[in-house]
Parts: sequence; structure tokens; C-alpha cells
Amino acid sequence: MAVARTRGRRRLRLKFLLGGALLTTGCGTFMDQGALAPKGQVASDLEKIFWYSTWTAVGVFVVVMGLLLFAIFRPRGEEPSRLHGDRFVVIGGLVVPAVILMGMLGLTVTGLKVIPQEGELHVTITAHQFWWEVYYPEGDFETASEVHIPVGTKVELKLLSDDVIHSFWVPELAGKADLVPGRENRLVIEAEEPGTYRGQCAEYCGLQHANMLLRVIAQPHEEFEAWKEEQTRPAAVRDPRGAEIFQRNCAGCHTIRGTPATGEFGPDLTHLASRESLGSVMIPNERGHLAGWIVNSQTTKPGNEMPPITTLEPEELRRLLDYLEALK
Ligand code: CUA
Repeated sequence: MAVARTRGRRRLRLKFLLGGALLTTGCGTFMDQGALAPKGQVASDLEKIFWYSTWTAVGVFVVVMGLLLFAIFRPRGEEPSRLHGDRFVVIGGLVVPAVILMGMLGLTVTGLKVIPQEGELHVTITAHQFWWEVYYPEGDFETASEVHIPVGTKVELKLLSDDVIHSFWVPELAGKADLVPGRENRLVIEAEEPGTYRGQCAEYCGLQHANMLLRVIAQPHEEFEAWKEEQTRPAAVRDPRGAEIFQRNCAGCHTIRGTPATGEFGPDLTHLASRESLGSVMIPNERGHLAGWIVNSQTTKPGNEMPPITTLEPEELRRLLDYLEALK
């Protein structure tokens, strides 16, 4: 009997441990894009305000619930005086909230003051409904949905929009900022450590809102400079046949610098192979995914503006893939 009970208890403990482990893994994934794991100055300030308001709210809740319980269970006796009640209303209803709100205002104002307004590096981000255009004026080149920045540098983002309202949000680095057609917004981001920071559009923007991801890739200075240097070069065309297939099927919408392809509707693909992801960070930049995307991107990202390309012969598709995969 006793043995069975111990065994039961042991099993229960194991279940708790497993549950706990699962929960922590969940947190791990969540923390990849967590406002509570800041890696930049602005995000740290925001985190402070978050915890201040959360703990204050918890404190107020506990006190109010305590008073409620006291009121319910207080020993029967004489009625409290009117004066007592009045004083309570003044302190609990006016003085305490005023102090708490002033504290919050103070934190917010000091937080706002330290938000940097200017950066040492400039990047222009233009919102399109299904992708993020990323343009580097210093170097005059363009990429998509992946923003490379040097570590420890204030990077000033100029936020524009073509046809949609997105909200640029990389929680580990900074707060949110909207990209609105006809308006120019600014956001300064800075990463304290090298790494890849996930971002997410934080404004409902249609069918693919949940898949409007982006990435900020923070690199040590030399690595960033090498990347930039690489990106400014024209495309490395090795196979003229592949280039010709591209020209026939894709050049209406896409640019590959250094070739006759100068379409401006979709992302610039000059250095496509140097990117980690496709479809606004939805899928990895691998041959299979790329092939699927070319043939029918609607199965991956329904509603996006790239039409299925059904006229390619298998041999042509292979050639086109070889060509695109060489665009480092
Ligand atoms: Cu853009 Cu949601």
C-alpha cells in the first residue's frame, strides 16, 4: 500500500518536472522575440516601465483585495465613524493614485528623453503589403526583409510606406513605429550584442499580417562592412542561359543589378543567395523552398502579389534555380 503511494507520488513529481521543462522550452522560443529580454537601450527602458506598472498593479490589487476581505470578515462591533470613511476616500482615491501616476509619468518622460533621435548609420525601410524593402543610402543598394546593422551603433531607420500600414517592431531592440503612406517616421535602433533579432509587424495589414516577419542581423563592425561591400557589387552572372530565363519570366518585377532586369515591383534580387530567408522571413532560403516559391508562392503565402509561374519547363526551373543560387 505504502509502496504504491510512493510510486504514485513519484509519477506525479515526474509529470510536474516534464510540464515545467515543456513550459521553459516554450518560454525559450517566446523569448526569441521577447520585449522582456532587451538587448538594446530603448528596449531596456521600456522593460523598466513595464515592470514598474506591473508590480504597482499587483500591489494595488493585493491591498484592495485585503481591504475587501477585511470588510467582509471584520468582527461585528460599532459602525465606523463618517470622518474615517471620508479620510479613506481622500487618501485611497486621490493621494495614492496621484503618487503612482506621477511616478509612471516621471519614468515615461525620462524614458522618452533618452530615446536617441539620430543615428550614425542610415537605413530606409519601405513597407509593401507583403514585404519590407530595406535600402542603404550609404552604398546605394537594396535588400529585403533582413536588416543588417553593426553592433553598438545607433542606426536611424527612415520608415516609409508604399501601399500599406505596417508597424515595425523588433521587441528586443526598441518599441514599435508605424510605416504610413505619405508620412515619414523615424526609429533609432541599436543592438548591444551580435545576433539575429526577430521582428514582427504589429499592425493588422491584411491576409498575411501574421507572416509579416523581419529580421535584424547585428554583426561586428568588420563583418558588417564586408557584407556591405559585397552588397554594393553588381550581380555575379555565371550562366547567361539562366539570366535569360530570369529576364523572360521575372524581370518585369525584379531587379538584378548589372543585368537588364530592372523591375521595381518586387524585391531586388541582386544578392538573393546572401539572404537567410524568403517570403518576408517565412521560409528558409533553400533550393526546395525557392523552387516552390517560384512555381507557386500562393501556396506558401496566399494573397501575395507574385503570380504562379506555370510556363517553366523542369529544365528551365533547374537552370533558373542555379542562376539564383549563385547570386551571393
Ligand atoms: Cu503589416 Cu501586419
